[in-house]
Amino acid sequence: MDNILITGADGQLGSELRSLTEGRSDIQCLYTDCQDLDITDADAVEKFVTGHSITKIINCAAYNNVDGAETDSDAAIRINVTGPMNLAAAAARHGIYLVHLSSDFVFDGTKSTPYHESDKPAPLSEYGRTKLAGEIAIKRSGCLSIIIRTSWLYSPAGKKNFVKTMLRIGAEEEIVNVVYDQTGTPTYAKDLAEAILHILPQLDAVPRYGEIFHYSDEGSCSKAEWAQKIMTLKKTDCDVNPIPTSQYPAPAKRPAYSVLDKSLIRTVFGVKVPLWERSLSKAIRLF
Ligand SMILES: NC(=O)c1ccc[n+]([C@@H]2O[C@H](COP(=O)([O-])OP(=O)(O)OC[C@H]3O[C@@H](n4cnc5c(N)ncnc54)[C@H](OP(=O)(O)O)[C@@H]3O)[C@@H](O)[C@H]2O)c1
Repeated sequence: MDNILITGADGQLGSELRSLTEGRSDIQCLYTDCQDLDITDADAVEKFVTGHSITKIINCAAYNNVDGAETDSDAAIRINVTGPMNLAAAAARHGIYLVHLSSDFVFDGTKSTPYHESDKPAPLSEYGRTKLAGEIAIKRSGCLSIIIRTSWLYSPAGKKNFVKTMLRIGAEEEIVNVVYDQTGTPTYAKDLAEAILHILPQLDAVPRYGEIFHYSDEGSCSKAEWAQKIMTLKKTDCDVNPIPTSQYPAPAKRPAYSVLDKSLIRTVFGVKVPLWERSLSKAIRLF
């Protein structure tokens, strides 16, 4: 049986993976976060992988503060580049698979149709640049690996995410300004966790070295439409006022369009991709 190391297990994706796998007899996982295993510490990673006879790694650890990365780029580089590099080096040494997560923010958002894995990345922000550098580091390591780019993740388990922010504002305010000119796909972290668990048993059949796959939920919307859907589902009295990004200055530039094309992950691994609105309707009851 596989012995799977899940890093960043207290985060959104890590928590969803934990609740889908804990107590199962057909899969054995070791759940770690910063306090158990700091992925930026190469020796600690190597000791952990050896000491626990790890056979696969799912890296859910990340520095995800998009605006914070503009001024704290050292931390973003350590966690989004050095960390994945350490995991990849251990995976290469031990001949084990690494599943790594990346972001739609590697793109500049100038397209108006969904991004394919073959589209050229051109990040607009330091966060996007560190996520892209993490991808490149994994490819260069030559370890068995796949990289899954995802977008606009949310989970009730998240410390901070767009759904939680909207629900807090919705309970306190009568109106909230939300940008209408950033389009993407909200992705329930539980859907992504299910997709990863569906892919995992298929990995050993084919060696892949840093191959990229896109996964988000299906469909697309603007941030303002997403906010409106959240308010409607929760029946709040808060109105969503759509505004342009130019009226909502933020330290980091975001892509205007970052919808991901999921054809490849569907074809290669037979992953099912639920509609974002359906998933949000299910998830919102848990917030
Ligand atoms: N969130 C999104 O909207 C989004 C969008 C696109 C792609 N992604 C990607 O999807 C993946 C999962 O994201 P997520 O939203 O589940 O992330 P998350 O909720 O921010 O969780 C990341 C976890 O990693 C931990 N961590 C930070 N530094 C670490 C270190 N040095 N060693 C070990 N653990 C560390 C964090 O702990 P602390 O909280 O204590 O720092 C946190 O528990 C990431 O690769 C992310 O970049 C996310």
